[in-house]
Amino acid sequence: MKHAIIEKNPLLLTVLTLIVVSIGGIVEISPLFYLESTIEKVEGMRPYSPLELAGRKIYIREGCYTCHSQMIRPLRDEVERYGPYSLAAESMYDHPFQWGSKRTGPDLARVGGRYSDDWHVAHMNNPRALVPESIMPGYPFLAETALNFTHMDDDLRANRAVGVPYSDEMIEAALQDVRAQTDPDSDGAEALLARYPKAQVRDFDGDPNIVSELDAMIAYLQMLGTLVDFELYKPEENLR
Ligand code: HEC
Repeated sequence: MKHAIIEKNPLLLTVLTLIVVSIGGIVEISPLFYLESTIEKVEGMRPYSPLELAGRKIYIREGCYTCHSQMIRPLRDEVERYGPYSLAAESMYDHPFQWGSKRTGPDLARVGGRYSDDWHVAHMNNPRALVPESIMPGYPFLAETALNFTHMDDDLRANRAVGVPYSDEMIEAALQDVRAQTDPDSDGAEALLARYPKAQVRDFDGDPNIVSELDAMIAYLQMLGTLVDFELYKPEENLR
């Protein structure tokens, strides 16, 4: 019985076990070295516009992620509540990602377009004005704080350093793109849309006198989950 020899010799058993396990490992790992990306490309995904990126930074600064996740799991109850489950490609430009696991409030991965800008203005100012039982804190100071975007081009550069495909042109136009996205009457809107398709251009906070942190925050919230056209991707078909 050759088997008995192996089983009675711990060292031999260990070595042979390691060999067998590493074959399995190599089969699983080595294809990854030949793939350019493990993320399936999805039409419609683009880097954040400068204003959206600024809003995202405020979202992180204020710790919104401590109560809100941004990943809809592929489970029926989630999809019925929030919409199509999140695709990997939808967070491919997120540094750091905001998937989260804590949901004191609802998932925000597809909150874009669900409410009006006015709703967000009122909700950010005092959530209880709209949802009496809400335990979300108010952020009234966002409306009063001018957005500091003097270093917006550096933010884009930093994101490019970690792999987000911002072009030189996008970096150069970063500051003017922030202004263009909050001002529907500006000349820059067309160029902005060419750089960032589907970017929403308007005065988000309803106060034309100031590009506020609230402008950036609402621009960010209103674009979440709106880039991919789910008429083309029908993930419901894979639901468990
Ligand atoms: C202490 C936990 C908490 C924090 C922190 C928090 N929220 Fe909320 N959020 C909630 C809860 C609870 C709700 C549901 C009740 C409501 O609508 O106010 C909610 C609702 C929302 C909604 C509406 C979502 C929907 O689908 O109805 C948005 C948008 C939102 N929060 C954005 C934010 C943003 C942006 C921040 C950071 C500036 C933030 N929240 C911080 C708890 C929180």
